[in-house]
Amino acid sequence: MKKKSVVVLLIFAFVLSACDISNESMSDSTEISSSRDITKSISNRTSDKSDKKSLIVYFSIPETLNADAVSGASQAEEDGQNLGNVQFVAEKIQSEVKGDILRLEVEEPYPKDYDETVDRAREEERNNTLPRLATVIPDLNQYEVIYIGYPVWNMTVPSPIRTFLSQSNIENKRVALFATHAGYGLGNSDERIEELIPNNTFTDVLDIEDNEVNDSNGTIKNWITASNLLE
Ligand SMILES: Cc1cc2nc3c(=O)[nH]c(=O)nc-3n(C[C@H](O)[C@H](O)[C@H](O)COP(=O)(O)O)c2cc1C
Repeated sequence: MKKKSVVVLLIFAFVLSACDISNESMSDSTEISSSRDITKSISNRTSDKSDKKSLIVYFSIPETLNADAVSGASQAEEDGQNLGNVQFVAEKIQSEVKGDILRLEVEEPYPKDYDETVDRAREEERNNTLPRLATVIPDLNQYEVIYIGYPVWNMTVPSPIRTFLSQSNIENKRVALFATHAGYGLGNSDERIEELIPNNTFTDVLDIEDNEVNDSNGTIKNWITASNLLE
């Protein structure tokens, strides 16, 4: 069976399991911990372009050859360097809006092998696990706009994003979600995030397919403008 067929089957399996857990709340989570001290933290601090302070927080795993495995598309590239797809989009957003950027990393990295990553992601979903982050989450009170970027995993939100949301008190913010995927859409990922942090104002989701990431500059700029994110 071709790899893509396997992925499609896995995705359908996950649509079912994602439906079961879509009404979860953070209090249901079984495994959570604080960040480690060795951590990565905010980088590339720049002046915001708008008068509202923005944080671009994202999860992305360039190490896993996910795009090749699923869609045949190449990974995002910048100056000959391979980037994660979400990372690429996050950096483009930052070049437009300035602000702070924060990459979420887990203490126990995901395997480099795509199928093993899918297996682990599936287990984390099934058990409602929140993997420990190696990233220090800053005080979010200082931000008015929070961009949250993620790859769609098994038709839902990847568990490290759930960890981030559970560790952060995000309320009364403008939240701008952006996601990349291999062509199967957002699944329930955006709805789930909105359920987990309900007391916020959400823009339309920026949703980019893997094979369009490298040419997504215009799409990103249009989304920022249409969502009034610089006002
Ligand atoms: C564990 C795992 C699960 C995935 N599940 C889906 C999915 O359900 N639907 C989809 O379209 N793509 C899926 N993909 C593909 C990624 O969403 C896509 O390649 C994304 O652009 C990866 O972003 P990144 O390079 O920033 O990590 C999955 C990838 C992985 C590693």
